[in-house]
Amino acid sequence: MAILVTGGAGYIGSHTIVELLNEGFEVIVIDNFTNSNPESINRAIQITGREIKVYNTSLLDSEGLEDVFLHNKIQAVIHFAGFKAVGESVLFPLEYYHNNVSGTLLLCQTMQRHNVKNLIFSSSATVYGAPDKVPISEDFPLNATNPYGRTKLMIEEILTDLYQSDNSWSITILRYFNPIGAHESGKMGEDPAGIPNNLIPYISKVAIGELKELQIFGVDYPTKDGTGVRDYIHVVDLAKGHVKALNQNMILKGINTYNLGTGRGYSVLEIVKAFEKVSGRSINYKITERRPGDVAVSFANPEKAKKELNWEAERGIDQMCADAWHWQTNNPNGYEKAPQIMEQEFPFVSSNEREIFLK
Ligand code: WQD
Repeated sequence: MAILVTGGAGYIGSHTIVELLNEGFEVIVIDNFTNSNPESINRAIQITGREIKVYNTSLLDSEGLEDVFLHNKIQAVIHFAGFKAVGESVLFPLEYYHNNVSGTLLLCQTMQRHNVKNLIFSSSATVYGAPDKVPISEDFPLNATNPYGRTKLMIEEILTDLYQSDNSWSITILRYFNPIGAHESGKMGEDPAGIPNNLIPYISKVAIGELKELQIFGVDYPTKDGTGVRDYIHVVDLAKGHVKALNQNMILKGINTYNLGTGRGYSVLEIVKAFEKVSGRSINYKITERRPGDVAVSFANPEKAKKELNWEAERGIDQMCADAWHWQTNNPNGYEKAPQIMEQEFPFVSSNEREIFLK
């Protein structure tokens, strides 16, 4: 019986398949490589020495999706596949709703048809919007403030309705805070296309000299140094959280939601200082206006996951920055985007399904 990982070639997906393989699970990946590169799967194979079956298809390709379930015995699904850039979602809302929400609907309908009812869903702390207080617990009010966040919120509601309609489902919703860092091997990491939106990959490219300086979006927030505070969590801790969630999901029925964060917030300036310390490089920066849509402070109350999943983050901010820097210095051009993938423009068209084994 295999674990199907949608979006398994992505940043969090690829780190999660390494932990699944290390735990002895058989892994099948669906990915259309619009936001990822098959090389990340090759790296997962190099790290673990295990085989991975990969289907290069989109969740919107209902025949391709049906094929995957017809030809494989699937025990559970971990669903990462989706567009995830906040700014882009404001520019292309229809593509975000179609890709993220319709893709999830097709996935769940296919799972239902094949009586596969164990699902882990990749959600985000962005569903909380600007919290009234911190730390943030799972029962806080939900208030997504952009199309990307609203796709996550809509999918959470769809999955709640699905469980209400059929209690034989086991659904786990994981709300990530700010995943950063990379696998300790330096073989895998975050490989954003173009100019990074997120803080760490941007700082990393300034440190390596590819980008001139960091723009710090606002120093007038009500925080210790005026810059935004976030709950940064090592991507490997996040990946291990998925394995713990899967183990619980496969023995319990029901729908459960967990924050995956460290419970500690760091400001932008603290992150800059930590990165300078581990890289030995100075990070040039300039202060600019606040970025629209940013919240001042966000960090998790991680107690529920600790108690019910027997999981907590173990890696500290210095290791997160050191592992991110190790990945950057080992892979200055990321995974070297394969030419055939660059043909697909955003919004992508669904690709032809083809099964590939990556050795
Ligand atoms: C972190 C802090 C910025 C870049 C986003 C998505 C969220 C999730 C994680 C998908 C903030 C500041 C950043 C820069 C800066 N993604 N910053 N200069 O916005 O907390 O969360 O990524 O699920 O949904 O919203 O992460 O890394 O963009 O920003 O000053 O060039 O760094 O203002 O305070 P964010 P981020």
